[in-house]
Amino acid sequence: MSHVKMRCIYIFLLVLGILCLYFGMNSLTFFEEELPVFKKISGNFLQLPEVDCRQNSPFLVLLVTSSPSQVIARMTIRQTWGREMVVQGKQIKTFFLLGATTEQHEMTAMTQEGQQHRDIIQKDFTDVYFNLTLKTMMGMEWVHYFCPQATFVMKTDSDMFVNVHYLTELLLKKNRTTRFFTGFLKMNEFPIRKKFSKWFVSKLEYPWDKYPPFCSGTGYVFSSDVASQVYNVSDSVPFIKLEDVFVGLCLEKLNIKLEELHSEQTFFPEGLSFSTCRFKKIVACHFIKPPEMLAYWHALEISLGETCPGV
Ligand SMILES: *[C@@H]1O[C@H](CO)[C@@H](O)[C@H](O)[C@H]1NC(C)=O
Ligand SMILES: *[C@@H]1O[C@H](CO)[C@@H](O)[C@H](O)[C@H]1NC(C)=O
Ligand SMILES: *[C@@H]1O[C@H](CO)[C@@H](O)[C@H](O)[C@H]1NC(C)=O
Repeated sequence: MSHVKMRCIYIFLLVLGILCLYFGMNSLTFFEEELPVFKKISGNFLQLPEVDCRQNSPFLVLLVTSSPSQVIARMTIRQTWGREMVVQGKQIKTFFLLGATTEQHEMTAMTQEGQQHRDIIQKDFTDVYFNLTLKTMMGMEWVHYFCPQATFVMKTDSDMFVNVHYLTELLLKKNRTTRFFTGFLKMNEFPIRKKFSKWFVSKLEYPWDKYPPFCSGTGYVFSSDVASQVYNVSDSVPFIKLEDVFVGLCLEKLNIKLEELHSEQTFFPEGLSFSTCRFKKIVACHFIKPPEMLAYWHALEISLGETCPGV
């Protein structure tokens, strides 16, 4: 009888022990998950463009995030708003930001493309959507080390239409050359906690309830000193895969406030239907495919001298 009792107590204690261990470990990992991650943003450059910013300082540098397969989008941008240009006497230069892939033929093609056009900035991180923060920070690092002489920098995407004429005009009017950051302002955004959303962010990645003010990643513009400062604070800011939020966190730490470029809306992250007169007075528009890009740019170029009624 006492044997059975002993065995019962033994099993009870064993189960209790396992339960304690289980919950103990769980709360331990739970605790660890609550701590934000800080990432050292480094890696090696695989390609650098041929440009000497000391000799020939651009007024505006456009950094376009792109992926290895988007060859046609890059070619279209080179023929349209990303062409090397002088607007109101100011030099504008466009570069593409790329990562690496394990596909050898894609890597070779990117190297050849870079040698031909001299406009590719590439590092050895894996080129995937959720490494966009690394791609953006590569751009900041590049400006910091290779082109701090530029006056302004725009970070944008390869499915964007950029009216560099109007952007230059507004930047000259604004006459701000330090600690300036503009774009489509997002002042009150919250992390999406629904697991199946493209923008799902776990509490592990971002434990706080609200995002800092940031500008839509589709296109934002800043004075070049901001690139150095953002790059400088980037490894003391919790890492988040949403690059625009990450830059917002850096700006918050630097106490750099977002500003509107113009009293009217000029950045259109949700897209905008085309008319020449409308596109004359915008800076950036999302969801533009290569054939439209060519058509819109052509329409804009031939109407440059003309004014639109009522605007
Ligand atoms: C981002 O790139 C790094 C470095 O190549 C790689 O280890 C990591 O897996 C990539 N991230 C994702 C989400 O694939
Ligand atoms: C731009 O600002 C500087 C001082 O910050 C001033 O000296 C200059 O006149 C301004 N230029 C224009 C065109 O407003
Ligand atoms: C980078 O940060 C350090 C201190 O954190 C500061 O001394 C230095 O001036 C900063 N550099 C730039 C370029 O902002």
